[in-house]
Amino acid sequence: MLSELDSLKTAALAALDAAQDETALEAVRVNFLGKKGSVTALSQGMKDVPVEQKKEVGAKLNEVRTAITEGIDTKKLALQAAQDAKAVEGIDITLPGRPGAGVGALHPLTQIRDLAIRTLRRMGFALAEGPEIETEWHCFDALNTPADHPARNEKDTFYLPDGRLLRTHTSSVQVRTMEAAKALPIRIIAPGAAYRRDEIDATHLSVFNQLEGLYVNQDVSLGDLKGTLEYFFREIFGVGTAVRFRPHFFPFTEPSFEIDVKLEAKGKDARWIEIAGCGMVDPAVFAEINKARGDNLFDPETTTGFAFGLGLDRLAMIMHGITDIRHLIENDVRFLQQFAV
Ligand code: DAH
Repeated sequence: MLSELDSLKTAALAALDAAQDETALEAVRVNFLGKKGSVTALSQGMKDVPVEQKKEVGAKLNEVRTAITEGIDTKKLALQAAQDAKAVEGIDITLPGRPGAGVGALHPLTQIRDLAIRTLRRMGFALAEGPEIETEWHCFDALNTPADHPARNEKDTFYLPDGRLLRTHTSSVQVRTMEAAKALPIRIIAPGAAYRRDEIDATHLSVFNQLEGLYVNQDVSLGDLKGTLEYFFREIFGVGTAVRFRPHFFPFTEPSFEIDVKLEAKGKDARWIEIAGCGMVDPAVFAEINKARGDNLFDPETTTGFAFGLGLDRLAMIMHGITDIRHLIENDVRFLQQFAV
């Protein structure tokens, strides 16, 4: 048995030596170490070896098995190395790279979203998020938006068969955040996609991008709202920019405003451009959140807050004088290159 094992080892190593590819290597493994392989067959003969020889034969068996296994591993690495070398044959890997199409740049929308986030984070707002597939409650009911509100109409909103919907605004993240809050204050921003069944044209897409903001505490005032957003828009458009708050209506804020900034388009007189919606969180929203939470963290008697929402696509269009929103999703490099920084 000992000499048989020795000659098996010699035969296996010779076969390994001769193997030219991984298939041949696998065949060697199967022939010697496989279930029906010769080493396996010999090891089954162990039970017939006399007791006094068992130790020596067993050790030999292990030695042979290890030698073949290691031989296979080594050969495998050698074959792979040879294959790698062949793949780069004739290629001069020391040649410096060619500046080709460039390394790319951030999409103008990404740049503006990042600028908005950076500016608001400096003021203490933390990032929050919520799902794009929302429940009606998070998108509408909790935001004091009644069942007969036009925004909820099937003509305007994408509904799923199970009654959920593609969120029509990022304001649903306000609800998600307040629902899960452990304590006050809450100071969050939530950039993200929103969906509406709009006819696509130069100023409308059915998927667009918003940025939501919410600040809730014991004594948040309209002054805080104005100061925060005036500062924000002056950071974005320049220190001298005039910002005005025009009374408006949103179901989830009271009072509510639209924010206009006074900007000059190239070669034209400055004019007021609507840029965002905002307001003081309606106590009805706090009451609805408390009901869902089962506590009184957002006591409408003592809690106040402001919220705002702006369209990032619109912001990009205004900042860059882009006249057709569709450019933002067509990925035409000639268009995008103008905004590469
Ligand atoms: N959700 C509104 C929209 O999509 C925008 C908005 C208005 C958000 C007022 C707010 C807000 O947070 O306070 O038109």
